[in-house]
Amino acid sequence: QRFRLRFARTTLFVVLTATGAFIYFSQKDLYPGEQLDQDPKKKTIVVLGNGWGSTSFLKNLDNEEYNVVVVSPRNYFLFSPLLPSVTVGTLEARSIIQPTRYITRHKKRKCAVYEAEATDIDPVKKTVTFKDASETNETHKEVTIPYDYLVYGVGAENQTFGIKGVKEYGCFLKELKDADRIRRKLLDCLETASFTGQSEEEINRLMHMVVVGGGPTGVEYAGELHDFLIDDLRKWYPEIADKLRITLIEALPNVLPAFSKQLIEYTESTFKTNKIDVMTRTAVKDVGEKSVIVQDANKNTHEIPYGLLVWATGNTARELSRKLMGKLPEHQTNRRGITTDDHLRVAGAPEIFALGDAVAGQYAPTAQVASQQGVWLARTLVKMAQAEKLKEELNQMRATGAEPADVERVVKKLNRVADVPSFNYSHQGSLAYIGSEKAIADVPFFNGSFSSGGVATMLFWRSAYISTLYSLRNRTLVMADWAKVKLFGRDVSRE
Ligand code: FAD
Ligand code: NAI
Repeated sequence: QRFRLRFARTTLFVVLTATGAFIYFSQKDLYPGEQLDQDPKKKTIVVLGNGWGSTSFLKNLDNEEYNVVVVSPRNYFLFSPLLPSVTVGTLEARSIIQPTRYITRHKKRKCAVYEAEATDIDPVKKTVTFKDASETNETHKEVTIPYDYLVYGVGAENQTFGIKGVKEYGCFLKELKDADRIRRKLLDCLETASFTGQSEEEINRLMHMVVVGGGPTGVEYAGELHDFLIDDLRKWYPEIADKLRITLIEALPNVLPAFSKQLIEYTESTFKTNKIDVMTRTAVKDVGEKSVIVQDANKNTHEIPYGLLVWATGNTARELSRKLMGKLPEHQTNRRGITTDDHLRVAGAPEIFALGDAVAGQYAPTAQVASQQGVWLARTLVKMAQAEKLKEELNQMRATGAEPADVERVVKKLNRVADVPSFNYSHQGSLAYIGSEKAIADVPFFNGSFSSGGVATMLFWRSAYISTLYSLRNRTLVMADWAKVKLFGRDVSRE
């Protein structure tokens, strides 16, 4: 009896403490405090984009010494690793985004945030031009502002290799609107296939989901689609569910070339069990409205009819990046993206710092790289502001004939602050979800790496992403979505 009472009391205590902590942290986020006004005497940092690189920079920057202006066509940060889950309704779109104003309102000094697209950069005059493309702002007027430093984090575009029809008929998977489009198109295929009087051939076409590109994006999408088929489609569309086919087309000899051999084999065998057709050594050459033309290893071509086509063949430089590179032809010769030095300074324009997918360098275009670069850059710019202050102090000391020992002390401090080590990436491992509650992980371990795949890895994958999600709000919403899907299944209604 006494034990039960003590157990109940402890449980109550834990629940109340956890609830208190939850309320405290959620309210702390909700009510930002007073901020310093922008100061015309301080330097201005213009930040382009609010993806992984720029948001990590903003989050980590102590902006007391800077006026910050953020320019991005979307007004939120998107947690891209969970985007494939939005395409089938495992997660709601709102759960994986964080409004940028929630971030800037917590900074020491006020930041300006403009929902606009940068259209031009003048690295000589040090100006950025941008325009608001919203439907409400009918003027679409271009505005040009000066910068002292420019943080260039505009990411990359989807690669199409100039293949005809990709942009018209394929669905990309990079932004929230892409996930929404895929979800609508998928449900459209299901409803149209269920429509009365459809021919067998047409049903088979509509129920064929083709994914092009066996990189992590294509693999994760195929995995999510498989879960949708097993968990929901069979329940709500029993008459057509068994006709759903998923085909993953990859030009190279295997999927996931960046993962270890063991995990590649594990993924391919899991896909085989899950009846996901993997066509390797096969490249898509042409895309039509209802079918794709592929070429196999023997150079034979085939036509493959599809209902939904998801195109995930990697990245290419954005138009804005190409324009900027065109202005620095002697320094920018890599067509894949911006070239920087090891301090993230754009070659030929040292006041511009580029990070993330916009850069074509030694690192893979991943969120991990972009966010570490953001942290490094935030610290570096704070050090640069400190160095400026110390230089001013030194000038004043010298002008007023200060004691040599005091001057020496400030010189030493300045040397310490001005000595900025170059950016060094630390790889924390690669993770990917492959469907049927299984994930794969390649994690560095001492001098080698540790590879694992399966259900336990999926739990690791989930906990890793829960801990890296931006806010308590995101974590709560994502966990609630997972619970909701377990209890009620995915929503198959089409808004
Ligand atoms: P982004 O995050 O793409 O941000 C670019 C920003 O620039 C956006 O805010 C955009 O709106 C803005 N922008 C675009 N054009 C302009 C313009 N003209 N002017 C101003 N702003 C502009 N990586 C991992 O490490 N792990 C993962 O699990 C993982 N999963 C992924 C899953 C998917 C489906 C995808 C698509 C990618 C995934 N990645 C993952 C890769 C990762 O998302 C990118 O490497 C990362 O987003 C790059 O960060 P970034 O800041 O350079 O660009
Ligand atoms: P990717 O570049 O990694 O893979 C694209 C694949 O498409 C390549 O394997 C390529 O051979 C294939 N391909 C190209 N053209 C083709 C064609 N015409 N026909 C058939 N196949 C073709 O691209 P992805 O998956 O979009 O990833 C982009 C970046 O984002 C990568 O750096 C990746 O590591 C990162 N990412 C990481 C994730 C994770 O860690 N879980 C998830 C998603 C993306």
